[in-house]
Amino acid sequence: MIQPVIYKKEKLFLLDQRKLPFKEIYIEIKKFNQLLNAIKNMTVRGAPLIGITAGYGFLIGLEKILKRKDFKEVLKKRLSALENTRPTAYNLFYVTRRIRELVDKGIRDFKAYEDIAIKIHQEEIKRCEKIGKVGSKLIRKGMRVLTHCNTGALATGGIGTAFGVIYKARKKIKEVIFTETRPYFQGARLTSYELHKAKIPHRLIFDFEAGVLMKNRMVDIVITGADRIAKNGDTANKTGTLVLAVLANYFKIPFYIAAPVSTFDLNAKSGKDFVIEQRNPEEVKKVYGKRIAPDITKAIYYSFDITRSKLISGYITEKGVLKPPFRL
Ligand code: MRU
Repeated sequence: MIQPVIYKKEKLFLLDQRKLPFKEIYIEIKKFNQLLNAIKNMTVRGAPLIGITAGYGFLIGLEKILKRKDFKEVLKKRLSALENTRPTAYNLFYVTRRIRELVDKGIRDFKAYEDIAIKIHQEEIKRCEKIGKVGSKLIRKGMRVLTHCNTGALATGGIGTAFGVIYKARKKIKEVIFTETRPYFQGARLTSYELHKAKIPHRLIFDFEAGVLMKNRMVDIVITGADRIAKNGDTANKTGTLVLAVLANYFKIPFYIAAPVSTFDLNAKSGKDFVIEQRNPEEVKKVYGKRIAPDITKAIYYSFDITRSKLISGYITEKGVLKPPFRL
């Protein structure tokens, strides 16, 4: 399996996802600010992986900080800085909450923080396995699955969420149709890379092709991941998910979300409580750094959209296929 994050002997290496699929380059993270930038600039991305990276990244320079009198204040600032990097990805907050519990207790033992980081990673790997097993029961022989963005090892550290379902059901799946996912191209660059490595039959579509494929009965089920799920089931995920859910509903195709419990924000009553990350609009005007719109053109870049729960057939989790309101 692809290893997007490697932590070994107190050293942290991140696979630079901006360079994929053409170059597999690991960057060593030596400074905490470098880690914050790596999350912001999408060297690593995908909600569960952002959480895992935050857990390991918290360890950078930690031993020195733990010797300081004001260590609690310094560490709390670190946690807030982490939370500000990608504010929609709930897994990040799930991880900072677990670390904050240690800080609040005044724990000064580096090993305790290291253990929790490793534990969080191991838990996500196990969750993906279970999600894959649970979800594969929804796949019948010969089905064509549509997915969006990237939800495999590169986004989760495990076999994936929506991709985990695809992976576990790979022998039954006729074909995976997946979107390119503009403007960062998580589909075209990363999901294609993972599908190819897993030897699963696949075809790439551009984002707006989904409607014609659904109309032509070339899609049997849609499964995507999630960045944050509210108590009522409203789901934030990569922009374009909402369009796919509306289309699937119109064409009466089942639409599922696959996500671990660490993505469920039960403090949010609905999607109205979510913070939706907006990124630099300049990125919308570029493909691989090359400008495709005039300089003076203004753009908008919502990194995520919110799909109302009524458009979602079910939530594939490690605890089964759930329906809201959730009690986890
Ligand atoms: O902006 P990204 O690439 O971090 O967005 C990723 C997604 O939207 C994924 O679908 C989501 O994190 C679920 S991945 C298991």
